[in-house]
Order: sequence, then C-alpha cells, then structure tokens
Amino acid sequence: MSKLKPQRFLTGITTTGTPHLGNYVGSIRPSVAASTGDGAESFYFLADYHALIKCDEPARIQRSTLEIAASWLAAGLDPERVTFYRQSDIPEIPELTWLLTCVTAKGVLNRAHAYKASVDKNAAAGNDPDADVSAGLFMYPVLMGADILMFKAHQVPVGRDQIQHIEMARDMGQRFNHLYGEHFVLPQALIEESVALLPGTDGRKMSKSYDNTIPLFAPREQLQKLINGIVTDSRAPGEPKEVEGSALFQIYQAFASDDETAALRKAYAAGIGWGEAKQLLFERIDREIAPMRANYLALMKDPAKIEATLQAGAEKARRLATPFMRELRQAVGLRSLATQAGTQAGKVARAATSAFKQYREADGKFHFKLLDAQGQLLLQSPGYDSPREAAQAIALLQSQGMAASGALKPVAGVDVAAVDAALGQLAASKG
Ligand code: TRP
Repeated sequence: MSKLKPQRFLTGITTTGTPHLGNYVGSIRPSVAASTGDGAESFYFLADYHALIKCDEPARIQRSTLEIAASWLAAGLDPERVTFYRQSDIPEIPELTWLLTCVTAKGVLNRAHAYKASVDKNAAAGNDPDADVSAGLFMYPVLMGADILMFKAHQVPVGRDQIQHIEMARDMGQRFNHLYGEHFVLPQALIEESVALLPGTDGRKMSKSYDNTIPLFAPREQLQKLINGIVTDSRAPGEPKEVEGSALFQIYQAFASDDETAALRKAYAAGIGWGEAKQLLFERIDREIAPMRANYLALMKDPAKIEATLQAGAEKARRLATPFMRELRQAVGLRSLATQAGTQAGKVARAATSAFKQYREADGKFHFKLLDAQGQLLLQSPGYDSPREAAQAIALLQSQGMAASGALKPVAGVDVAAVDAALGQLAASKG
C-alpha cells in the first residue's frame, strides 16, 4: 500500500437519552470496529454542549453522559487507542466557535435544516417564525464546525441528516483558510451505506422521538419483553411469512451471520410462528450483548472511573487543541502587544512572504506571477505551452534572480531590485 497520511475520523454523540439497539448497530458497533483498524486515528466525543440545545434538565444531561460513555466503553472502545473525551472539557471548542461564528454568513445558518424545520413549523402554525427557537439551535452548525475543525478530521462518520452540517464545516474552514492562511483541514462526511437503519418495535425507524426503542443494555427480562412487543401481522404458526417489511427479520439480520439470516429466511417461508421467531431474535441479540452488559453494569457502578477516563481523554485532546488555538488566535490578530510582528498589515499571517502563483488562462497557456508579501503584483509571465516550461522559468528566476529574467519584465511601477528582494525573501523563507 502507498504511504498515506493516517486518516483521522471524528464523531460526536449528543448526550441526551439512553443508547438503544439502533445506536449500537448504526454507530457504536461500526465505530468500535473502525477504531481497531490500522492507519486510522479516531476521535469520539460526548457532545454535551450540543445536548444543552435540546435539553434543559441537568440530571438528564449528566445521566445520559454517563450512560453513553459507559456504553461505548462496554462495547469495546479502547481509550488507549482512540481519543475519547467530553466536549465541555475542551474550553478551546467554544473559543473556536466564536472565531468561526465571525466567518460564517448568517444567511447560511438560516438554511440549516434543523433551524429551518422549526421556522417552517412555526409558519405552518401561524406563529412567529422564531417562536421557541433558541439562538443555540441557530448556532448549532457553528459549534459542530468547531468540533470537527479543531481536530483536523478528514472523515466524519454521520447519518444522512448531518451531511449539511459537514458541508457547512467545510465552508467555514475554507473561508477561514482564505482569510487567514491554511490552518484547517477540510472534512468530508462519511456515510456508511451498508448500515441499514434499524426499525423499532413499531416498524418505523428506531428513534427516541417515536418511543419505539429497545435500550442497548436493558436487563434480559426487559429485553425479552420489548422483543415480544415487536409488531408482526396476524398470521398463525404454519402460515408462510414474508421477510420483506418484517421489523423482526431486519433486526435479526443486523445481528446474525449470513448463514443464520438465511436460516431464518427459510423458517419464515416454512411458516415459523411469531413467538418462536421472537425467541430466536432474543437469544441472538442477548448472545452478542450479554458480555457487554456485564461490563456496562460494572462501569455504571464506578462513575469515578469513567470520569477519570474522560479526563485522560480531555488531556490527550487538549495536547492538540491548546497549541492549535494559540496558532489560530495569532492568525486572526488576537496577539500579544509585546510582539510587534504583525502590525503593518492585517493579513500578514497568510501573505507573510512573497509567492509565485501558477495558473492557466482561457487560451490554454500556462502563466505565473510573482506577488510580494503584501499581495502586490511584481511580475507577470507570458504564456507557456506547458506547465513544465513555466516551472523551468520559475526555477531559473529562483536560482539566478532577475539577471536571468530574459523577456520577463517587472510590471509597470516596480523596479528590478524590488523583484530581486522578493525573490531573496522567498528563498530565505524556504531555507
Ligand atoms: N450533531 C450530531 C448529531 O446530532 C452530533 C455531533 C456534534 C457531531 N458534533 C459533532 C457529529 C461533530 C459529528 C461531528 O448526531
């Protein structure tokens, strides 16, 4: 394999609610599996600042944070291999949120799905468009942008509903880079096509908002009871049944091997009774979950241990965030007054040195130009037939200065000495 830079994966879990089987199949299980692979660096965090947008019950936020942390650890997330932390332990996140807020167009946030859905709902009900809409909901994409950009994530595994937020994070990063220099990696959304949405007990997507979830670590008896409550039709034992549209079958498939799934498919055709099918499903899920459930219960009895794990994760995360935030503050001009470095121009961070820019014109020819540290045009080349020829002309200038310029002349109002000075500065900056 070629030597690629390790890809960095990052994802956040909003700390409202108790993890259910849908979260396990759609997020926890694939994330834990991915984090054990080589060549990947994984960042997982508890998005508790995000939780405040949806939830004003302090006890619920705390409880959910504990349950989610315990669930991920019980499911095999290794905090030694990954960076596992709580968002609110990283003060640099809200700090970055503000810097990004200042480069984000309000109009873009107006179009964010979550905010727009609330506004549309209000409009439909004849209410004020912003009734019950907090500024937190409005700003949500910027906080999420800070989560992602802070750690230079390449890939962000999310559900489809989050794609727009990742695109917004890209735009914020791009805009910031354009204004202040290349600081951010532009992230990509990673959508797991193969992970099917798990249906809930009523056949609709398993979701807290439908009240149809099966908690991941429900005690055995409760698990059995909830599985018995999965909707089926009224066909009696002995009557052939279809797997299409069967929530029971789909949930089974999410846990079973291909062979096991094929066997259940056959059993459906042969008229397995619903009671028997539910028993199979219960046993299959419990086989996978039971060892984790034991870990989970042990962890839940020792919250201080989880807290210590999260503190260690925060320390690891801040080893990146603290110096990066220092760099970003410097870039935007939040600087010590004792150092006068950047006083002459606003955008020195980006254009601290002169630069060659190569480009192609509409005539198909390859050109370059030389700009000084302030972005002023010094030199403009004629068109070359190939990028190679343009590059050779640049190389000649760099090694021998304007003495070797041939037909190249500075633009009007610039003298040869100024071009040589810029070339010298460029050489020094690369030294
Ligand atoms: N908003 C995401 C959700 O509701 C959670 C989240 C917060 C997140 N910050 C993130 C996901 C950063 C990925 C990256 O699912």
